[in-house]
Amino acid sequence: MKVISIVNQKGGCGKTITAVNLSAALSKKGFKVLLIDLDPQAHATFALRKSSNLTITDILEKLSRNEVLPLDELYQSVSENFYFIGSRIGLASLEHKFSQRDDRLDILSTFLNIVSSNFDYCILDCPPNLGLLTLNALNASAYCLIPFNLCDFSLRGIEILKDIIIMLKEFKGKTPICFYLLNQLDRRSRFACEFTEKVKKRLGNLLLNTMIRTNITLKEAASFGKNIFEYNSDSRGAEDFAALAKEVINTTSNTSWAQLFLKGESFAEVYAIGDFNNWKKDEKYKLRKVGGDIWTLNIPLEKGKYRYKFLAGDTWLADPHNKLVEDDSYGGKNSLIIID
Ligand SMILES: Nc1ncnc2c1ncn2[C@@H]1O[C@H](COP(=O)(O)OP(=O)(O)O)[C@@H](O)[C@H]1O
Ligand SMILES: [Mg+2]
Repeated sequence: MKVISIVNQKGGCGKTITAVNLSAALSKKGFKVLLIDLDPQAHATFALRKSSNLTITDILEKLSRNEVLPLDELYQSVSENFYFIGSRIGLASLEHKFSQRDDRLDILSTFLNIVSSNFDYCILDCPPNLGLLTLNALNASAYCLIPFNLCDFSLRGIEILKDIIIMLKEFKGKTPICFYLLNQLDRRSRFACEFTEKVKKRLGNLLLNTMIRTNITLKEAASFGKNIFEYNSDSRGAEDFAALAKEVINTTSNTSWAQLFLKGESFAEVYAIGDFNNWKKDEKYKLRKVGGDIWTLNIPLEKGKYRYKFLAGDTWLADPHNKLVEDDSYGGKNSLIIID
């Protein structure tokens, strides 16, 4: 099961609409999908008009008390291949209850491991903050999709998220591979076109090619408790989400990804140089500055072992966030990525 969390600490940037319609689109392509509403405000639960006795709150609470889970009541069916676990306000108090536990970041992972053989994809609709639930989601995910829109503030949200991901990498030794999704795009506006170009330049291959246009039908569908394919499968919203599902399937199936980070405000530019590019400086391997001082790059890799270093300005560095290293032949260290 591939776990994808939909995260941005800002509200209103399209997390829920993406979670619901991406789940629907993946299920229409024949994949078995589990959508979990992790937001105590329960917008996805409302958007699907689902309310059940057993919410993710109950499940995580039972799990934390080592109670047996009622396996046949865990999720509800939305449509063919599309299953759902809802949320309710109690999820907020759960954050508080779990905050003292040693396994507080792993509770959701533990649950997802139990159900993982039943699904191809699990989509996590996260709350608009970076609290314990979002951290649990990031810790359980292989991928993270960050929807954002034209509003500058949502880019600031992205910067803060990067700090959290670096923290997870240092604390847990692994992070989800992050991709950005431009939402609520209105190509008629010149400002929107200029912004899109700017974002493409800045994010490179961190930005998904698919963009979700502003489409009132998406809003209407949610207000009628339907996903876009049930409500109007000829709409632009349905077209965009079908394209998104296709890109997500490609991105998550064919290749493995390595996600590299470097923190440092003073660098003019940073490149990853290593076995994956024959140790040559290559524009495709230039890290993108996504936060005030955070540089990042996603590299698609086949199975194998790759040695690399960063070239930050004129300085060669081993990756400070990667504990796997090997001596180089010059008395220094190369960082290592192993994809198996
Ligand atoms: N592409 C879009 N076209 C039209 N309305 C959208 C689009 N994306 C989001 N919305 C609307 O914007 C509001 C916020 O979106 P939502 O998915 O709930 O954001 P979040 O979960 O990040 O808070 C909702 O009313 C939603 O219907
Ligand atoms: Mg939401």
